[in-house]
Amino acid sequence: MKAIVCTRLGLPRLARYKDVPQPVPGDGQVLIEVHASSVTFSNLFLFMKRWWPFRLALGGQLIPKSGIPGTDVTGRVAALGKNASKFKAGDAVYGDLSSAGKGALAEYVCAPESILAPKPANLSFEEAAAVPESALVALRGLRDKGQVQKGQKVLVYGASGGIGTFAVQIAKHLGAEVTGVCSTRNVDLVRSLGADRVIDYTKEDFTRSGERYDLVFAARNTRPVSEIGRVLGPGGVYVSTMGPSITRGFQEFFIGPRALKKQGKRVSVIDVDYDWGDLVLIKELIEAGRVRPVIDRRYPLSQAPEAFRYYGGGHARGKVVISVRPDG
Ligand SMILES: NC(=O)c1ccc[n+]([C@@H]2O[C@H](COP(=O)([O-])OP(=O)(O)OC[C@H]3O[C@@H](n4cnc5c(N)ncnc54)[C@H](OP(=O)(O)O)[C@@H]3O)[C@@H](O)[C@H]2O)c1
Repeated sequence: MKAIVCTRLGLPRLARYKDVPQPVPGDGQVLIEVHASSVTFSNLFLFMKRWWPFRLALGGQLIPKSGIPGTDVTGRVAALGKNASKFKAGDAVYGDLSSAGKGALAEYVCAPESILAPKPANLSFEEAAAVPESALVALRGLRDKGQVQKGQKVLVYGASGGIGTFAVQIAKHLGAEVTGVCSTRNVDLVRSLGADRVIDYTKEDFTRSGERYDLVFAARNTRPVSEIGRVLGPGGVYVSTMGPSITRGFQEFFIGPRALKKQGKRVSVIDVDYDWGDLVLIKELIEAGRVRPVIDRRYPLSQAPEAFRYYGGGHARGKVVISVRPDG
């Protein structure tokens, strides 16, 4: 089968499109005929050189075991391993393989059936591939880390990116009054996702408006914790994805919590300790029309390194999808 292989750190430069043996499903696993994947941060975290300090700090490997990147996956079940009974051959599934060896940038991948869910019925495979990691991060950040309550004021910084577009919609679903921050060209997009107010960061600095929020969700952590602290009301929470800035990530993890605690506020960083059952919840929100993926660009599997280069520029509008078997 064809796959993107990256056996040395250096995605996307050292990634190669080549033939590799098709995997065989193990105990409790299914073999997925992959239709699409998407560019996710977990891939960059494991396969890019510049993230090595974080990998070491978190006890991770320097070189990933699986040479095939790809965490978001959607496709059809092609075969069942021993003791796998949740799905049958032909079922359309979607999931996030960040804790399961990755490998979705290939024509076939094996995954534990326990971390997969049925694909949202109203989405194409390419649309469904845009969902798992970004929607799970947004949900975990807002509901679990931020504990958003109905009527609270939430600001989403980086509202037009892969995670931000889900965060705006999920915060609205949770009953918050949502302000999205993005640049001029994305104002209409963020408004169309349900934001009550949109701040164009090229014209207005939200940290100087005098407005206070119960929760700031940073899909992009480019502002210092001290500035975010200024816009949080009493008992406010700063929830960060810890990216893309590594130095700010360290600040948010080690120094920020103590600094904000003195003001009666809190910093919470998002981890990938997902509840896989949430994929079913997200499927239901999508099927009910409460949440939709936003896709910026689609690339064929052979051009996946180009997709990573584009995402790495930091200005994708929603998600960048990698199509393995293009939607018909
Ligand atoms: N903690 C975790 O488990 C976890 C998991 C996944 C991802 N992450 C982190 O989450 C971050 C966000 O991921 P993502 O996929 O949403 O990123 P992304 O898609 O790269 O975000 C791109 C968006 O950010 C906007 N943007 C760029 N500069 C901005 C600025 N100065 N102010 C406001 N918006 C700005 C861009 O809009 P314009 O073009 O209009 O500027 C673009 O729409 C990643 O950097 C990653 O490190 C963390």
